[in-house]
Amino acid sequence: MKFFIDTADLAEIEVLSATGLVDGVTTNPSLVAQSGRPFLQAVREICAVVPGPVSAEVTATDHETMLAEGRLLAGLAPNVAVKVPLTVDGLKTCKVLAGEGTPVNVTLCFSAGQALLAAKAGAAYISPFVGRLDDAGQDGMDLIAEIVEIYSQYPGLKTEVLVASVRGVKHVVEAACLGADVATIPPAVLRALFEHPLTDRGLAAFLADWEKTGQSILPKQAAE
Ligand code: G3P
Repeated sequence: MKFFIDTADLAEIEVLSATGLVDGVTTNPSLVAQSGRPFLQAVREICAVVPGPVSAEVTATDHETMLAEGRLLAGLAPNVAVKVPLTVDGLKTCKVLAGEGTPVNVTLCFSAGQALLAAKAGAAYISPFVGRLDDAGQDGMDLIAEIVEIYSQYPGLKTEVLVASVRGVKHVVEAACLGADVATIPPAVLRALFEHPLTDRGLAAFLADWEKTGQSILPKQAAE
């Protein structure tokens, strides 16, 4: 499963992408606003740090302006994926941009029917918002299971399931169990994936026992 980072914070992206475990980035207007950065400059900077797909969202709601915005965003860097909301105008724009070879991430997906439409529109990614469905008393991962099942019936389909609105490690693991293609993960959740108290305790015990041997792997002067 691919890991995208869900943030427009360049410092976070630089630190986490240095792990070599980050395959892309997703942003949205709220994340850009939180970053306090000029949008177009932030997209260029992020695209220069992460070679994988970087989602940049249009903010217009009518097809004509969405298309103009999408084409401009696509021109910022070769690894831009244009994000459009799952609306009639959004999918009309997706269809045209996809036809021009621009990868499109269709966002704000909350039903399997919507995911079907996005695939028909040629979306490169569909972004079901699992956390917000959970917030509404539904089970977001049920939707992921449904979409994965539907898409698997059509092997020719190229749309990747990009699990979004991820709120914790459980969402990431469940998305992987269901065979989702991508999870877009907030920085704090990605860090939490590394953490386990037994790992910390085990490492401390290894190092304490190693210390007692008085040995070092590198020659002493190099190790100091
Ligand atoms: O990628 C979508 C994500 O940023 C939305 O997350 O927590 O606002 O539902 P959230």
